[in-house]
Amino acid sequence: MQQIVDEIAEEMMNLEDKGEVAHYIPQLAKIDPNQFAISVALTNGEIYQAGCAAKLFSIQSISKVFTLTLALGKLGDSIWHRVGREPSGDPFNSIVQLEHEQGKPRNPFINAGAITIADLIMQGHQPKEVLAEIIQFMRYIADDDSIAIDEKVAKSELETGARNASLAYFMSSFGHFENPVEEVLGTYFHHCSIAMNSTQLAKAGLFLANNGVNPITGYTVVSAQRAKRINALMLTCGHYDGSGEFAFRVGLPGKSGVGGGILAVAPGNASIGVWSPGLDAIGNSKLGTKALELLAYKTGWSVFGK
Ligand code: DON
Repeated sequence: MQQIVDEIAEEMMNLEDKGEVAHYIPQLAKIDPNQFAISVALTNGEIYQAGCAAKLFSIQSISKVFTLTLALGKLGDSIWHRVGREPSGDPFNSIVQLEHEQGKPRNPFINAGAITIADLIMQGHQPKEVLAEIIQFMRYIADDDSIAIDEKVAKSELETGARNASLAYFMSSFGHFENPVEEVLGTYFHHCSIAMNSTQLAKAGLFLANNGVNPITGYTVVSAQRAKRINALMLTCGHYDGSGEFAFRVGLPGKSGVGGGILAVAPGNASIGVWSPGLDAIGNSKLGTKALELLAYKTGWSVFGK
């Protein structure tokens, strides 16, 4: 496995076209695209890494996997009254389906869906209380107490978050929101701004590769059925309108973020964190996807067969 990740890292650094960093969040627009990291956490507890695997990056939409997990833990299947489980086929920040579907987002991973999940987990609490809970949860599942929010990124998102504010106010016009819209947005922007490295990310996703139990700590995070369902949503919705292409090329449940990270899950085998800040036209890491495609090919881990 060390040889495989070393080969992949070398191949990625030699590629000319590394994609474009996210420009709409000024703090992310400053990041050097010539960076690549890969960390593979096996379900037997071994961890392999290559590239700049200790470098922190903004996990952005990958956080939506963890807020969904928290929401399911707090509220169970009742969350499905507020958010659907179908791929949207539209960009992550699209507003078009919301009018036809009366403010109920298609799935928990598009921005509208994740903002709804933020509203659900707040339950009348202040953003800082909920954020403390989210961070505590991240530290618990990754077994790493150093995980924190990058306040500069959160501020940058807030200042340029007109589209997300539009989504949130539009949804609230249907009368669904339980908490003040500005507070829900504050929670959402801050959980998107959690900083992690690829190894922390791989460790945080291990419970999804191991029937809900983190094999390193022995902690049960969710039931096996819930882990399976979260993986299904990642496969069908984790890359927005690029989810079909990701399934075709990689064949693993995955969740991307505009910071350039991707968490991928090879059920029964491994949790993988990759990072490279350059994105493709849809907003998913260009080299991250390529690296996962190579990894799935070399290991035979695609859920669709060897
Ligand atoms: O709300 C936003 O636009 C960002 N905080 C998250 C978007 C994102 O990561 C989409 N992923 N590829």
